[in-house]
Amino acid sequence: MDRTLWWDHDRDRLELIDQTLLPCRYESIAVPDVEALIEAIRVLRVRGAPALGAAGAYGVALAARTAGGDESLAYLAGVRRDAARIRSARPTAVNLAWGVDRALAAIGDARTPDGVRAATLAEAERIADEDAAMCRAIGTHGAALLPDPATVLTHCNAGALACVEWGTALGVVRSAVEAGKKVSVIACETRPLLQGARLSAFELRRDDIPVTVCPDSAAAHLMRSGGIDAVVVGADRICRDAVFNKIGTYAHAIAARYHGIPFYVAAPSSTLDFASRAAEIEIEERGRDEVASSFGVETVPPGVPVRNPAFDATPFALVTAVITERGVYSDPGELFGS
Ligand code: MRU
Repeated sequence: MDRTLWWDHDRDRLELIDQTLLPCRYESIAVPDVEALIEAIRVLRVRGAPALGAAGAYGVALAARTAGGDESLAYLAGVRRDAARIRSARPTAVNLAWGVDRALAAIGDARTPDGVRAATLAEAERIADEDAAMCRAIGTHGAALLPDPATVLTHCNAGALACVEWGTALGVVRSAVEAGKKVSVIACETRPLLQGARLSAFELRRDDIPVTVCPDSAAAHLMRSGGIDAVVVGADRICRDAVFNKIGTYAHAIAARYHGIPFYVAAPSSTLDFASRAAEIEIEERGRDEVASSFGVETVPPGVPVRNPAFDATPFALVTAVITERGVYSDPGELFGS
């Protein structure tokens, strides 16, 4: 299966699928330096928590290639400075900081630029491979939870494009299909950047998995009308009392609980935040234009303020189970040993 991002060993640089071009064009771009990576993260050329974890680690490998200075302390300080900038390119998905920190830790005792380059790239490749394996395991655990046939409602894109490959929420769907179950997906379009309509629908269609797109505001109505067997979403951060995911997820969880529909969260353990509770997490607030200039036309009168939070927090009380590569946790507190 194609990867969402990978290291181009011939040119010694990162390549990634530019997700801003989808669904019209499926093309990769070269990411030769830290500046280009930070831009790609901010405008969502690469996005989705697990993919951001790998991007963060590859970013440290890029920093190790572009940082100046021959003297080892100055060189290492340059790598760390660039790593800190990558780490804070987007605040909510914990995987970005996690990937950066893992690649930095892999430097260990290496002091020469060559040693640091080799160590950081090897760790980034390990993270990418681990992510692919974790998504497969999540898929296997999650697939067993779905009835046959099943209609699954999902939000945003927690598919192959949000990860290195396979996906978390859509990985569950893929694994169920691979196991012979008949699964179809309702993909909520996911205002304002339409990751559901543009990305989830694209990758499911490509894999011949039946998918229908609906406006986010239709989800509760579709749940009430019957025919939705489960809601399965990904996560950007699971802290000690809540799941952070794309804005709109919380509303789907409330509607699912009201209608007695199971609400599953599929995420690798790299998404767990052991240190924080929901109130401490910064929710990324994105620019006005994403809401006010949809499709190149003004849709909000000039001067009217806009709120554009990118994520929301769903309390554990609304989550039927969290599916990780280790298994299914109907009490998410157990993920934190409580
Ligand atoms: O703003 P995005 O597109 O990076 O947000 C991504 C999501 O909210 C996904 O649902 C989440 O990262 C899970 S990805 C497996």
